Amino acid sequence: MSQTAILGAGVMGETLLSGLVRAGRRVDHLLVGEKRAERARELEERYGVAVVSNVEAATLADTLALVVKPQDMGDLLAEIAGVLRPGQLVVSLAAGITTAFIESRVPDDIAVVRVMPNTPALVDEGMSAISPGSHCSDAQLAEVEALMASVGKVLRIPERQQDAVTAISGSGPAYIFFVVESMIEAGVHLGLPRTTASELVIQTLVGSAKMLRETGTHPVVLREQVTSPGGTTASALRELEIHKVRAAFLAAMEAARNRSRELAEGI
Ligand SMILES: NC(=O)c1ccc[n+]([C@@H]2O[C@H](COP(=O)([O-])OP(=O)(O)OC[C@H]3O[C@@H](n4cnc5c(N)ncnc54)[C@H](OP(=O)(O)O)[C@@H]3O)[C@@H](O)[C@H]2O)c1
Repeated sequence: MSQTAILGAGVMGETLLSGLVRAGRRVDHLLVGEKRAERARELEERYGVAVVSNVEAATLADTLALVVKPQDMGDLLAEIAGVLRPGQLVVSLAAGITTAFIESRVPDDIAVVRVMPNTPALVDEGMSAISPGSHCSDAQLAEVEALMASVGKVLRIPERQQDAVTAISGSGPAYIFFVVESMIEAGVHLGLPRTTASELVIQTLVGSAKMLRETGTHPVVLREQVTSPGGTTASALRELEIHKVRAAFLAAMEAARNRSRELAEGI
């Protein structure tokens, strides 16, 4: 079995690490590259994984998952480029960073795959979109597919769609949490205890998500099933339209897509 190294073990790096361990990946086939000693000790204790320098990880592993902030990607690539060898696979999980950016900073015979994951990977319900770089084989893409499948669903997409994907599923959990937070606050305003409001909203979210996935029915149809003419839901939906919530979602996701493009340009 080949060795996989995770370079950058913050929120997303640890999410991937924990998912791989849960999926049964042997810890002696995993490595973590981490510069802070305290964080390294924490990860070693929590997962029993070896934490080494980036250069050592890049020397030993066959697959390198780069999970640093987009702004740190140039420095990380400069640090490891000298020890990369033919046949290695570099997988970037960073928003906005293109495969061309990485390919221009690593030796020619290194395959690159770009991934946009999301944090529900922490509970094995992640959504990852993967795109191959200019010289990545089908087998290498399949390897990344299997890597990310250990923490949820995986979709293969053309790289030009990655900025839009970042705006929808990459940042998406934050919008959903924002909606949940708003509904809980509303419940409190309506006089419900906070714990009651939280339980009502979270179960409504989980139930609605399951209905969407398990029935495969279009959301408009599901919404109409809850909306009796002249009823309570109709009154609420009218307010959402008056407050232009649909337009706000479009504007928000356009802003996220544009920010992803800017990150690619190092802005
Ligand atoms: N969080 C999400 O929801 C999400 C979703 C999709 C994609 N992503 C992508 O995942 C990447 C990481 O995001 P995150 O939320 O996990 O950020 P984060 O929590 O800040 O994690 C980044 C980690 O990288 C470490 N790091 C920085 N430079 C390094 C280097 N040269 N070598 C090794 N480690 C280094 C940081 O260590 P220090 O703290 O010591 O600097 C930190 O632990 C980003 O590119 C982001 O676009 C995140």
